[in-house]
Amino acid sequence: MTPKLVDPFARAITYLRVSVTDRCDFRCVYCMSENMTFLPKRELLTLEELDRLCTAFVGLGVEKLRVTGGEPLVRKGILAFFQSMSRHLESGALKELTLTTNGSQLHRFATDLHSFGVRRINVSLDTLDADKFARVTRWGRLRQVLHGIEAARSAGLRVKINAVALKGFNEDELFSMTEWCASEDMDLTWIEVMPMGDLGNENRIGQYWPVSDIRHRLSERYTVTDLAHRTGGPARYVQLEETRQQIGFITPLTHNFCESCNRVRLTCTGELYMCLGQEDKADLRLPLRSHPDSDTPLVQAIHAAIGRKPKGHDFDYSRQQVAGQVSRHMSHTGG
Ligand code: GTP
Ligand code: 5AD
Ligand code: SF4
Repeated sequence: MTPKLVDPFARAITYLRVSVTDRCDFRCVYCMSENMTFLPKRELLTLEELDRLCTAFVGLGVEKLRVTGGEPLVRKGILAFFQSMSRHLESGALKELTLTTNGSQLHRFATDLHSFGVRRINVSLDTLDADKFARVTRWGRLRQVLHGIEAARSAGLRVKINAVALKGFNEDELFSMTEWCASEDMDLTWIEVMPMGDLGNENRIGQYWPVSDIRHRLSERYTVTDLAHRTGGPARYVQLEETRQQIGFITPLTHNFCESCNRVRLTCTGELYMCLGQEDKADLRLPLRSHPDSDTPLVQAIHAAIGRKPKGHDFDYSRQQVAGQVSRHMSHTGG
């Protein structure tokens, strides 16, 4: 049997995030610059190549596969990829097949995604105010996303809302977003903004709204109980006793969760990033393409890459300056 993936810090790697495209129909301010240059199509792995890569990871013990981007649902033919991956759900090798999406295309794809075994999706949504939404996404329309969320729920998909916590931007919506998610029976997770991409004149410290403050403000209105349960991602959950809803916190800045990291990231060109917050990567496209009939070199390259997985990221905003910044945009590695 091929040995499973275990990194130098004895962490088992069971979660693969696959960015299937670097393109997106939005331009969120903390994720992309307005004038992005995207990869030429010939650089992209075909969906068949992505299938072969993901299947190799499943063979090495990956149990959770999250499809990301850019916006995964703008990649042409993406449903065929989900359909193909669903065979690993049927065989029992994969426990979860899911995606993180901006929601803009959900009205077109929700029913098919459900039929291919997707049960729970994460939708990125930072505000319920249409004007603010247009500002933060630059190109997005809130109505379309809300329509997509509705379509997802009607199709039987459970929805988790991911909101990036942005100081002076969505602070005033903490309770309205909480109440909206409670009334729609959706989970909500707050993410601390990370220093990724070409920051230019942008000031991430100025945008940074620590999750510890969110928790504190929630506790002034609700009884907040810590929950032990995990979904295999970095979020830690609390329950608001009055509404019985769950709120997740992803705290790359205030609390480092790297010690329990179980994941790696594959880009649409076949680069494997062993950490979201570090520059080191491994090229899997070469062993994939130069050995069309054997996965042995590919599996060796994967093992070698996991053998270099770093302990964690170095993001830090203390001392009033950004440290540990990563130059690539979030859309490159898919969050
Ligand atoms: P669940 O399966 O619902 O637990 O999802 P998840 O938290 O694994 O995935 P999701 O796509 O919701 O992740 C939300 C965001 O959390 C990502 O887009 C990143 O911004 C951040 N995040 C996820 N994993 C990591 C990680 O390993 N390191 C860091 N620094 N941030 C991460
Ligand atoms: N910091 C934190 N989260 C980010 N995302 C994109 N850029 C950043 C950043 N700089 C989030 C999106 C989405 C996910 C893919 O990553 O909002 O939820
Ligand atoms: Fe697109 Fe998501 Fe990046 Fe926004 S955060 S620009 S929706 S990839």
